[in-house]
Amino acid sequence: MGKQIFIGLVGFGTIGSGLVKLLQDNVDLIERRLGARLVIKKIVDLDITTPRKVSVSKDLLTTDIADILEDPEISIVVELMGGYENAKTFILNAMHRKKHVVTANKALLATYGNELFTVADKEQINVGFEASVGGTIPIIKTLKESLVANNIISIFGIMNGTSNYILTKMTDENLPFDQVLKEAQILGFAEADPTFDIEGIDTAHKLALTLSLSYGKRVKMEDIYMEGISGISLQDIEFAKELGYKIKLLAIALQKRDAIEARIHPTMIPFDHILSTVGGNYNAFHFIGDASGSVFLYGQGAGMMPTASSVVCDLVDIARDMMKNIVRRVPLRSIPEDKIDDINLLPMEEIVTSYYFRFSAYDRPGVLSKIAGILGNNSISIAAVIQKGRKEVGLVPVVMTTHPSKERNVRKALKEIDKLDVVGDKTILFRIEDERLK
Ligand code: HSE
Repeated sequence: MGKQIFIGLVGFGTIGSGLVKLLQDNVDLIERRLGARLVIKKIVDLDITTPRKVSVSKDLLTTDIADILEDPEISIVVELMGGYENAKTFILNAMHRKKHVVTANKALLATYGNELFTVADKEQINVGFEASVGGTIPIIKTLKESLVANNIISIFGIMNGTSNYILTKMTDENLPFDQVLKEAQILGFAEADPTFDIEGIDTAHKLALTLSLSYGKRVKMEDIYMEGISGISLQDIEFAKELGYKIKLLAIALQKRDAIEARIHPTMIPFDHILSTVGGNYNAFHFIGDASGSVFLYGQGAGMMPTASSVVCDLVDIARDMMKNIVRRVPLRSIPEDKIDDINLLPMEEIVTSYYFRFSAYDRPGVLSKIAGILGNNSISIAAVIQKGRKEVGLVPVVMTTHPSKERNVRKALKEIDKLDVVGDKTILFRIEDERLK
């Protein structure tokens, strides 16, 4: 028998089952490519009785994590249990026992990554986390290796499939947010508690990791500006269409002279931009490198086999190093750990972008000039105006888009406008990305 590399898996859920299935289905192909056989020796889960979508020998299953940690033959552990504390403890214990780690746990890495990577570096072990950002899409490898020669000028990503699914349905079928969310939950596309997905938190986990690899920096995800999609109405989707835009939940990063601009919010993007075509639960990443120019990566950001594909990619990478008796041909986070420093994020008030405003105003003479006057006084230049319908009583929507303006000025202007007696409800704001996407 040829060389075997033994793996311990913790978490026999959807992705864990996918991993087992992929290592069964493509075992010979992977062995041919690697020159060794990847063998799952133990699988730990709290539930080892419910049938899975894949069958395994009973001998492999255990509820005792020590069966993996204490087995000297197991050289790589795969953490697919999710959550924070237990996963962190398990990974640290594995690292201290010099076992390499593969994980898909973006929440854990975005929150405790700095601590975990420091220990990994000290223990001289490797950590694979390709599955943690963009499921099957090779984001980590692309940033650490393929684009290594580039300054990353910008990142625009659709990093959450659930939000993208909801926005696609709202846009294409004219259905309200609440209805689409409910249907998505019934179909199993959205979690019972969808907060992480729809409020941008899951996207922030992924952007934090993407930023740290793009710029070789430590990033605290709570420092990233974040807005979700739960407040988006069909009215704004319709106005966006009329103006030539689609609304997408974008993760955005831009390299500025002394700082990085990083933000997550619903964004209007031109209909004809490739990111607008990313529908359903797909994810996509658009990088612009100073040498590479545009690089567009698209695929399934979640799911049993797509995510397992990335887990196996990490296993093969680590195994290839092991077979050459090296540890980490590529640094954990693009640059040596001792060279990583804290990211300098641009405060949100300092960003400059174009805006869409929907004012709710009474249809009276002089209303537009009052609003336009306040915008002008705050150095905000109007690009387009739409006003529809006429009501003798009640509020009408007045939509304006702007040329690039500073967020600080916009916030100040909207505060003044919302106090006007001709304005009824709070003004709705969306940011527009146009020129920078090209
Ligand atoms: N829940 C995520 C999504 C997938 O909807 O894209 C895992 O991060």
